[in-house]
Amino acid sequence: MQGKEGEGLSLDLDNIPQHIAIIMDGNGRWAKKRGLPRVAGHRAGMKTVKEITRAADDIGVKALTLYAFSTENWKRPKDEVEYLMRLPQEYLLSELNELIEQNVQVRMLGNKDQLPDYTMNAVFEAQEKTKQNTGLVLNFALNYGSRDEMLHAIRCIAQEVKNDNLDIQDISEQTMNQYLFTEGLPDPDLLIRTSGEVRLSNFMLWQLAYSELWFSEVYWPDFTREEFYQAIFEYQHRSRRYGGV
Ligand code: IPE
Ligand code: IPE
Ligand code: MG
Repeated sequence: MQGKEGEGLSLDLDNIPQHIAIIMDGNGRWAKKRGLPRVAGHRAGMKTVKEITRAADDIGVKALTLYAFSTENWKRPKDEVEYLMRLPQEYLLSELNELIEQNVQVRMLGNKDQLPDYTMNAVFEAQEKTKQNTGLVLNFALNYGSRDEMLHAIRCIAQEVKNDNLDIQDISEQTMNQYLFTEGLPDPDLLIRTSGEVRLSNFMLWQLAYSELWFSEVYWPDFTREEFYQAIFEYQHRSRRYGGV
């Protein structure tokens, strides 16, 4: 690829992963290393979200799913949780106009019930104002847990069976896909996790069945466009076999 900051790398623009999922990890450690409070790391991480969204859009990625808050993150100190819950509002206040101009469609996946009104209102507004857009789908996983998502799907499917709308024999992978929060989106082709941790932390367990995994030692606030393109470059040199030969 020429011209963009991914110089040096030659990305095959005909083989860009359609859907990239990212576990944005390491904000707290980034801050600690600098003697700053953890929330300073979350603030710095927001800049990376902007940069990586642009980087994905520039090369024609169709969907970018960012893990922003897990169903387990409620265990954190109250102040930190509160700060994280304020971030979508702040992010969208500064970015929504540009996202609209860039033809980005904002979506959210996760359990909406426990989220504060100010968080949900910001997300609803962004969804509403970008729902006609046809470019990059920017998905925020907020209060998201894969097990929670699967339980929700199973309950919905069980209800359909109980209501005689669905036969047990007809429950298929496609049925599951219909009831997951990712309904309508292709499975991620590539999963990236920053900060050196090598685990999924309850993220998209169903959808990542055949995704390529890529891990970086870099803390999320230090993650760059170049590294993002490096991940895609390596993705393009892997052989996806799906159990075949
Ligand atoms: C990722 O960074 C952001 C969220 C989980 C919300 P962390 O806050 O987990 O940072 P570390 O892993 O403690 O460094
Ligand atoms: C995963 O990171 C959740 C998000 C990035 C939002 P965590 O930092 O919460 O994961 P663990 O606790 O290290 O597994
Ligand atoms: Mg972490």
